[in-house]
Order: sequence, then C-alpha cells, then structure tokens
Amino acid sequence: MSQPVSVLIVFYSKYGTTRDVAHAIAEGVESTGANAVLRQLPDVATVIDELKPAIPSEGELYASPDDLNHCDALALGSPGRFGNMAAPVKYFLEQTNTQWMNGTLAGKPACCFTATGTLHGGHEATILSMMLPLFHQGMVLMGLPYSIDELTHTQHGGTPYGAGRVTGMGHDQPFHSDERKLAVAQGKRLAEFAQQLKRGEA
Ligand SMILES: Cc1cc2nc3c(=O)[nH]c(=O)nc-3n(C[C@H](O)[C@H](O)[C@H](O)COP(=O)(O)O)c2cc1C
Repeated sequence: MSQPVSVLIVFYSKYGTTRDVAHAIAEGVESTGANAVLRQLPDVATVIDELKPAIPSEGELYASPDDLNHCDALALGSPGRFGNMAAPVKYFLEQTNTQWMNGTLAGKPACCFTATGTLHGGHEATILSMMLPLFHQGMVLMGLPYSIDELTHTQHGGTPYGAGRVTGMGHDQPFHSDERKLAVAQGKRLAEFAQQLKRGEA
C-alpha cells in the first residue's frame, strides 16, 4: 500500500485563534485518512536579547523550510495584520529560496486560512497575501466552493478564498460553528485533492 498523503499545516498564532482554525483543518485532513502535520511559527524580533529554545514550551513544533520537502500539500495560516500576513509567516516564506529554486512545491496543492479581529478588516486580503508567494512556488491554490452550504449563509468568517474566523478586537469571540465547518471542509478538500494527485487521478 502507498504511503498516506501528508498535509503540512503551518501557522503563526499569537493569541491562539488562528491555531483553532489550523486544528479544524487538521481534523478535516485526518477525516480522509491523510496525515496532518501541524507546525507553528515563532515570533520574529528586531532585537535579539535572548535565544529561545528550539523546541517551544507549548504547542506544536516550529516549522522548518525542510518540512516543505516532505509534504504532499500545504495549508498556510496567519492572523490578519493590516490586511496582510503576519511578519513571522513572511519571514518563514523568505527562507524558502532553496525550495523555490528546486521546484519542490511546484504542482502541490495549497490553501490559506486566517483569523481577523473584524469581519471587514482584511479577512480576504490576508488570505490572498499568503497566496501570492505560493503561486511563485508553483503551488496549485485551492479555495472553498459555494457547494458547501455554510459559505452561502455565514455571518462570520469563512470565504471562497479560504477558511477563517472573526475574533473581535479582544480576540475573544467563540469559534462559530459555520467557521469551524468551513475549516474542516477546507482540510478535507485539500487532502482529497492531494490523494487524487498522488494516485494520478487529478
Ligand atoms: C499588529 C496587528 C494588526 C492587526 N491588524 C488587523 C486588521 O487589519 N484587521 C483586523 O480585523 N484585525 C487586525 N488585527 C487583529 C488580529 O487579526 C486578531 O486579533 C487575530 O484574531 C489574532 O490572531 P491570533 O489569535 O492567531 O494571534 C491586528 C492585530 C495586530 C496585533
């Protein structure tokens, strides 16, 4: 039997709300029998006065560009920061020159997800900002189809560009069931497409 598909889920989350979306995506991935590999990104700092341990004191291991060499698909997540991805996500992507030159990610499917304080505060723009570098890497970008019911009636997060949640300015709003369903659906869709590609059916 062939190896199960491996879906790498890389995210940055300062307050934990983007992490919840990452975990819902992982649930969708694993519902297909694929492996979900969750990796977080560390903060970036302009001044380094203390080195942090290479293994975080809590949560997932830190992502390394090398993780990209071993995945069949990628889900990339960031909180919205002025309508853009957070600096740690951009910093990570800017360390993937080797993968770019080698075409490591070319032809692999990817999706992006977010959490923002407000509904119209850059939810979609943040997702799109993460897609741009992935296009340069040759990835096949996937969104969410309107055949998933929640997309037509959500009053919260979740867009055709990718999953997301709206957290309130205190990042304390609950993860709404519509947002969660869309995130699970995104993980499932990404993993199923990666499986089809691996079997030569897509
Ligand atoms: C520097 C900074 C900029 C932000 N910019 C926006 C913004 O433009 N629009 C918005 O809706 N929320 C903005 N937020 C709020 C975060 O997107 C929101 O709190 C998010 O849920 C944090 O995700 P996390 O819990 O994964 O860290 C900003 C937060 C920070 C710290």
